[in-house]
Amino acid sequence: MPCIEPARLADAEAIHQLITYWAEKGDMLHRPVGEIYEAIRDFKVARIDGEIVGCGSLHIMGADLAEVRSLAVSEAAQGKRVGAAIVAACVQDAMSLGLDRVFALTYRPGFFEKQGFRLANVMEFPQKVWNECVRCPFFTNCKEVAVVRSLREEGDLSVPLVR
Ligand SMILES: CC(C)(COP(=O)(O)OP(=O)(O)OC[C@H]1O[C@@H](n2cnc3c(N)ncnc32)[C@H](O)[C@@H]1OP(=O)(O)O)[C@@H](O)C(=O)NCCC(=O)NCCS
Repeated sequence: MPCIEPARLADAEAIHQLITYWAEKGDMLHRPVGEIYEAIRDFKVARIDGEIVGCGSLHIMGADLAEVRSLAVSEAAQGKRVGAAIVAACVQDAMSLGLDRVFALTYRPGFFEKQGFRLANVMEFPQKVWNECVRCPFFTNCKEVAVVRSLREEGDLSVPLVR
């Protein structure tokens, strides 16, 4: 089983290499290494025998919304539930923070659907589209699919009843 941990600054280069590997294959967007350092507190890493085999980040977009970004699992570690474990850790964080919804823009919507997300219209997340997507070189030809998971009901269920 992978061990999922908050990323440390020393992990930034390995995270960058993992994202770059998949970005060069066209499976995800590039992240400059400087941006990874700036967002290191958003990142989680998965380790097997101490080696980083996966990463993902939870980026808060506002009072009720966060985005799962930069999810990547090394080729050798795929199919071992590493990706599922990273998403679960991001969702857990989002629930502890009291967020209502977590979304992602992805080329792998089927994977996210298995993690409890549903297909969405990207315009459900105007703050993403008008602050970030507009600056993306693929804005007018975007192939990413929006997915969202609602946490409010799950969060309500996880809150212990006070009697
Ligand atoms: C997509 C990715 C994160 C999945 O990670 P993984 O660790 O291999 O996936 P898991 O082993 O955790 O899979 C969990 C479940 O999702 C399913 N799944 C995995 N990849 C899938 C895909 N591309 N489409 C549909 N379902 C998928 C698995 O079959 C498994 O299903 P189960 O619960 O019925 O057994 C990984 O393939 C990856 O890093 N790809 C390259 C980068 C990328 O595409 N990132 C996606 C975000 S943009």
